[in-house]
Amino acid sequence: MIPQSFIADLLNRVDIVDVVGRYVQLKKGGANFQGLCPFHNEKSPSFTVSPTKQFYHCFGCGAHGTAIGFLIEYSGMGFVDAVKDLAQNVGMVVPEQDDKIPPAQRAAMQQQSMALSEAMSKAAEFYKAQLRHAPQAISYLKGRGLTGEIAARFALGYSPSGWDALKAVFPDYDSPVLVEAGLIIQNVEEDGRRTKRYDRFRERVMFPIRNTKGQVIAFGGRIMDQGEPKYLNSPETPLFSKGSELYGLFEARQAIRDAGYVLVTEGYMDVVALAQMGFPQAVATLGTACTTTHVQKLLRQTDTVIFSFDGDKAGRRAARRALEACLPHVSDDKTIKFLFLPAEHDPDSYIREYGAAAFEQQVHEAMPLSQFLLREAAGEHDLTSPEGRARVQFDAKPLLQAMTPTALRLQIVRGLATMTQSTPGEVEQLFELAKPVAANKIAPPKSRREQPVGLELKLIRVMIAHPTLSLNLDDEALLAFAHFGQEAAERLIWLVVQAQSLGEQGSFAALCQLLKETGSEYDALISEIGAAPEPDIDAERLWLMATVRHLKMDALKQELDQLFAAGLSSEEIGVRYREITAKQDQLRKEAEAG
Ligand code: UTP
Ligand code: MN
Repeated sequence: MIPQSFIADLLNRVDIVDVVGRYVQLKKGGANFQGLCPFHNEKSPSFTVSPTKQFYHCFGCGAHGTAIGFLIEYSGMGFVDAVKDLAQNVGMVVPEQDDKIPPAQRAAMQQQSMALSEAMSKAAEFYKAQLRHAPQAISYLKGRGLTGEIAARFALGYSPSGWDALKAVFPDYDSPVLVEAGLIIQNVEEDGRRTKRYDRFRERVMFPIRNTKGQVIAFGGRIMDQGEPKYLNSPETPLFSKGSELYGLFEARQAIRDAGYVLVTEGYMDVVALAQMGFPQAVATLGTACTTTHVQKLLRQTDTVIFSFDGDKAGRRAARRALEACLPHVSDDKTIKFLFLPAEHDPDSYIREYGAAAFEQQVHEAMPLSQFLLREAAGEHDLTSPEGRARVQFDAKPLLQAMTPTALRLQIVRGLATMTQSTPGEVEQLFELAKPVAANKIAPPKSRREQPVGLELKLIRVMIAHPTLSLNLDDEALLAFAHFGQEAAERLIWLVVQAQSLGEQGSFAALCQLLKETGSEYDALISEIGAAPEPDIDAERLWLMATVRHLKMDALKQELDQLFAAGLSSEEIGVRYREITAKQDQLRKEAEAG
């Protein structure tokens, strides 16, 4: 579990307007921002985002939630991924699940990640500046058809010769940060002795890899002559993981939105060359197979993903991996296509040889996912024989099982049925596709109980809207909730304890998130609060304090009545009587003070 305090802190640091604004065009309207709801089809905006509440709410379809909820709903990410995504954007490190990292250690990790980040950006600036003094690197890039403008756009650089060129910008060349960042290499001998340190990147054209915030998190360095390796990459570091980063995504974001699709290639040079030739909406995986994380990231930016692969065997294998990574994310409002270039070409070489128009045509003719899937399933099998057709079904089974039930899956099932001389029903049965939704996706039955009304409802509402107000409630206040009856009191106390657990960080958004995770029944109320105009916290504080005082007075009076009704002597009652009346006086004084 990620601790609630972290979630609360995170929700205080991110701005939901930024988060939603990445995917939905928002316009300021009064205190809120408005736009077209991404969760239902509409022509006039009824989707609002409140910066003060850090909450979104659609008056059309009722969708609502926090920044975390938005990412989950919008991109289909899981909770943990959504939290990680947001955390990364504000430079926070999500505490590892399960093991409880002590706060001191977490602070150290944050600090480390900041230090790494700083080192990377310093190095990037250095390499970039070095390019100007490296005529051979400039002519290499020119020779590959790039202008200075494109080189600047991708912040291309050059790592000079020499073993410790980075000393120029890192006087503390011995700092462990430089090794952790992957900028320098230090081998450890078998006997434990450390060898001399040296720069990882030497005499290479440098491609900085940036995260979605634009911070440099890794480098790829290309050798200019023949030699191995052709590209040297940063190792995996706390900042950089190949399986989840895409080269060029930061640079391409606006272009992806403008074009309405993203082009996924396999190489640094493909991205840069395509941008040069008028296709700035390209990104590249980093010498690894496309992962589901990549696909998720891409589908968060756009509805249409077009993969481009070399036409050779390796390209086809890579395409197959990409297909598998896509299947769990296929939905009927997304388009995924596969473009296969002639065998000897990658996008860079193709567009140079045949020009932008020819490449555009290739994009236009890219193969839809359904067709590629069926082609993969058909393979080389003999469709005229029962064995061949059975084999096709066998091969298609895991692919279809990886898909969620969509209209597209149904279409593929039909295609496969025709191809294998079966009926769609037979295919579905054979592949066990018709199984009901997993039991854990069905909401647990809500306990039948009366909905809170009146004062109880108002208390709940105030507590949810302003969780920090709960910090004003002492044990006596909680005991006084007995006024509402045992069941209601327990519910109220539970809610107060949740709100209090967020501490001073508590916010409407943080509590919503917490309530959502505990599967509590407050969703309708949350939606209502999210849609309502901003309540005045000071007025609510005064109301809450007054209400709690009344409840306490009530409780004290009731206790007194009970004391007398018990038939005890005033002597016996004495001590408690004095306590109670003292408290009553105290409460009256507080009431007068306001
Ligand atoms: P390619 O060999 O297709 O290179 O590798 P490329 O992108 O076309 O580069 P140019 O045109 O020859 O300059 C595709 C990707 O695989 C990774 C890189 O990310 C590269 O962009 N790769 C390749 C490495 O990481 N190391 C290598 O040695 C080679
Ligand atoms: Mn190439």
